[in-house]
Amino acid sequence: MMIQKKDALWWKTATIYQIYPKSFCDSGAQGSGDIKGIISKLDYLKTLGIEAIWLTPVYESPMIDNGYDISDYYAINPEFGTMEDFERLLSEAHQRGIRIIMDIVVNHTSTAHAWFQSALGDKTSPYRDYYIWKDPVNGGTPTNWQSKFGGNAWEMDEATSQYYLHLFAKEQADLNWENPQVRDEVKKVISYWAEKGVDGFRLDVINLISKQQDFLNDEIGDGRRFYTDGPRVHEYLQEISEAVFQKYGSVTVGEMSSTTLEHCQQYSSTDNKELSMVFNFHHLKVDYTNGDKWTKAPFDFVQLKSIFNHWQTGLNGKGWGALFWCNHDQPRVVSRLGDDKQYRVESAKMLAASLHMMQGTPYIYQGEEIGMTNPHYTDISQYQDVESTNMYDIMVSQQGVEHLDMMAILAQKSRDNSRAPMQWNSEPYAGFSQTQPWLDVANNYPEINAEQALEHKDSVFYFYKSLIELRKQVPVITDGSYQDLLPEHSSIFAYVRENEGQTLLCINNYYGEETECVLPERFEMMKAKSLLSNYQVSESLVTSHHQVLRPYETRILLIED
Ligand code: GLC
Repeated sequence: MMIQKKDALWWKTATIYQIYPKSFCDSGAQGSGDIKGIISKLDYLKTLGIEAIWLTPVYESPMIDNGYDISDYYAINPEFGTMEDFERLLSEAHQRGIRIIMDIVVNHTSTAHAWFQSALGDKTSPYRDYYIWKDPVNGGTPTNWQSKFGGNAWEMDEATSQYYLHLFAKEQADLNWENPQVRDEVKKVISYWAEKGVDGFRLDVINLISKQQDFLNDEIGDGRRFYTDGPRVHEYLQEISEAVFQKYGSVTVGEMSSTTLEHCQQYSSTDNKELSMVFNFHHLKVDYTNGDKWTKAPFDFVQLKSIFNHWQTGLNGKGWGALFWCNHDQPRVVSRLGDDKQYRVESAKMLAASLHMMQGTPYIYQGEEIGMTNPHYTDISQYQDVESTNMYDIMVSQQGVEHLDMMAILAQKSRDNSRAPMQWNSEPYAGFSQTQPWLDVANNYPEINAEQALEHKDSVFYFYKSLIELRKQVPVITDGSYQDLLPEHSSIFAYVRENEGQTLLCINNYYGEETECVLPERFEMMKAKSLLSNYQVSESLVTSHHQVLRPYETRILLIED
């Protein structure tokens, strides 16, 4: 089955699978995943039914931030394989009707990139103006902006006595998008991969590329208001889109940090001038305390529903969103919002259903389809992530947080929770590698693994497969309006999707106790078909507006006129 290039809006009914190559599958005995490993699992992905893979960065990189620090945009990191391996992946995926979406990281480059190496220490370098340099202010940093990974966002270049900006690690220097040469380089990079046949691009922290040029101190925050959804961001995206995305018909998804609905309506507007769709993270901050990720807190369920409502109703007809719970920066959703012990299977399915029945393009992060959990690491040496290790140092050494309290926070919030190796089978190292992996495998792999999931028809895997099929078969999932029926209910999430011919009801119990709820009167005595549930229910039924849901129960009902 080859890819149909003609279907420009294929991604509206498709489900996309995210692969973090370092943790997906090691074809040999490196202890770290590679491209050949991915090729060996394409049939597994075909069985699941996904239509595209988003591959996180596989470019040449010192791997300070596992590939989000690119030192050569035109080369494959030998840790992952060769250019030949990559081209084989592309063709093998295409043969199976699976598209490939590459990650493009152009807010910053690695400081090991040739551009930065030339710019460093030399004000006359032709690449100096590719980055953002400022003189010291009052003998210190140019502004008080904070790096997203902790500490000040400016680093001193001793040879020239100027600072460069890094919104992430100090090894990730921000590019100066004001410079038209930088924008031309970006177009060249993306065109190179599009020419190879890559089908689309995920644009890393793309709403941070345009900084306010006065570089002011932020008296009330960490600086983000001066560079998030910045003054020229839409203009830049339109420029890249016209030069590359529209020319190649690429699907694009922009990662939007701390964004707003109004900006996202524009980024993903249906006239296709900027991007196909957007990721926003507001729904994944419901377990932050006053906006602070580095705390241990339960999640706010009513707030979660209200955020979904805001985005579902706000994007409908205006733009397009990505639907996701998990990625390589987020803990596992079954551990985060579900119950990863007694009701692991039920809660993993309920969380999947309650998300996949919304409008947007769903993304599944590797392992989510088998209900993988956080690995529950207990020793600080088990964490590898630059953000986690930086925050440990800052909070324990500088702010006096107790070691055990910090370990509890990391167990809930660290990005390594999702980066633990994929659990393929019950063999040593979960079948991920023949040797000790770069990050420890979770202890539960003998029970939770892909081989086991494929053998059981009631597994989380087949539930995801059904959700992927339903999206292709039932139009209201793609184009219906959205209404939250019980926004204030403390444990039930019930919403309805409607178009001209169909009404879809999705009712979910987010907690481990049987709970009842009363839906609006109009749902009394309607003939419905049960499309999917995580408990036994009869296929045809007459609805009652009084519902009793079992622990973590989900019901998807289609009411046809
Ligand atoms: C994005 C990536 C994350 C990375 C950061 C800096 O948020 O998803 O993994 O660390 O950008 O590139």
